[in-house]
Amino acid sequence: MAYVPIRNRYELMSFNHCGRSGLKLPAISLGLWHNFGGVDPYETGRRIVRRAFDAGITHFDLANNYGPPGGSAEINFGRMLATDFKSLRDEMIISTKAGYYMWPGPYGDGGSRKYLISSLDKSLQRMGLDYVDIFYHHRFDQDTPLEETLMALDHIVRQGKALYVGLSNYSAEQTEEAVAILRKLGTPCLIHQPRYSMLDRHVEESLLDVLDKHGIGCIAYSPLAQGMLTDRYLKGIPEDSRAGKSTGFLKKEDIKPDILQRILKLNDVARERGQSLAQMAIVWLLKDPRVTSVLVGASSIQQLENNLQALDHKHFEQAELDKINQLLN
Ligand SMILES: NC(=O)c1ccc[n+]([C@@H]2O[C@H](COP(=O)([O-])OP(=O)(O)OC[C@H]3O[C@@H](n4cnc5c(N)ncnc54)[C@H](OP(=O)(O)O)[C@@H]3O)[C@@H](O)[C@H]2O)c1
Repeated sequence: MAYVPIRNRYELMSFNHCGRSGLKLPAISLGLWHNFGGVDPYETGRRIVRRAFDAGITHFDLANNYGPPGGSAEINFGRMLATDFKSLRDEMIISTKAGYYMWPGPYGDGGSRKYLISSLDKSLQRMGLDYVDIFYHHRFDQDTPLEETLMALDHIVRQGKALYVGLSNYSAEQTEEAVAILRKLGTPCLIHQPRYSMLDRHVEESLLDVLDKHGIGCIAYSPLAQGMLTDRYLKGIPEDSRAGKSTGFLKKEDIKPDILQRILKLNDVARERGQSLAQMAIVWLLKDPRVTSVLVGASSIQQLENNLQALDHKHFEQAELDKINQLLN
């Protein structure tokens, strides 16, 4: 049956300006790193994407290498776009990236102009799109002059193949440098995508200040620490979980006893707030106005729905924040 999105979807989501730009992003965005590849059931992924859109999630995040196999998440998402979202392109913010290994030889990895321009062309083909809304350099490449990487991003925007550009996994210092070059080129940096969660707060040292100073948005990836900040591992490692599967990036060894102890205590705080741990982890990030959006992953509709309900209880009492800080330090 043809997909018809829920009419009142935009009343269900809150939207934040991405830095000082005119672009608004939903407080919760959906990432297709895991669960949408060739090894995953297509129909489950399709239902999650439709449910997300019905809930007002307009932003879907991809990268050239998402799968596995690399490229298959874009192929699957392209199929969904063609069957379900054909008339809805103008209501969607679709991002992709290049920067990690994608194909053999010297031109399928890093930050060269050759790699970035070819990679985006391939991403567009896989998704059946004329343009993406945001194109990211996925990680800093110390073997390529930053000017070359950023001139490629500028070129891509001028070609009309991306509307905005972003940086991911750049340090605060690398971001400062890149932002200045992009500004000179005339293509401002819209957004930064760092890893940020209760279990990884490195961005608080200086990156968030740099983004704020330059009016750049921040979209936090792996906000649930790949599932560790949920009830997933409270009673062991389920076989169908990311840590339980052989294809995931989270390993069984990552669920260390000391982390688990901390997670159990955080779970108690969440329960006292009347929330799931996942919900608390999401709104804990969103309490900082420098965070534009929280980029979650989900392997089921139930997880996505649980995450969306985070927005029903955003307020923290100071005592709760103090308790959380104590547990995180
Ligand atoms: N720029 C980069 O370098 C980079 C790197 C990583 C990710 N990202 C982006 O960030 C997105 C999100 O990353 P992520 O998938 O690591 O995010 P995450 O939200 O931290 O983890 C998602 C995983 O947590 C579990 N989960 C989610 N909601 C749950 C709930 N309510 N209850 C129980 N378990 C729940 C699921 O694990 P199970 O699969 O075990 O069910 C799900 O696959 C990616 O898709 C990608 O777009 C970017």
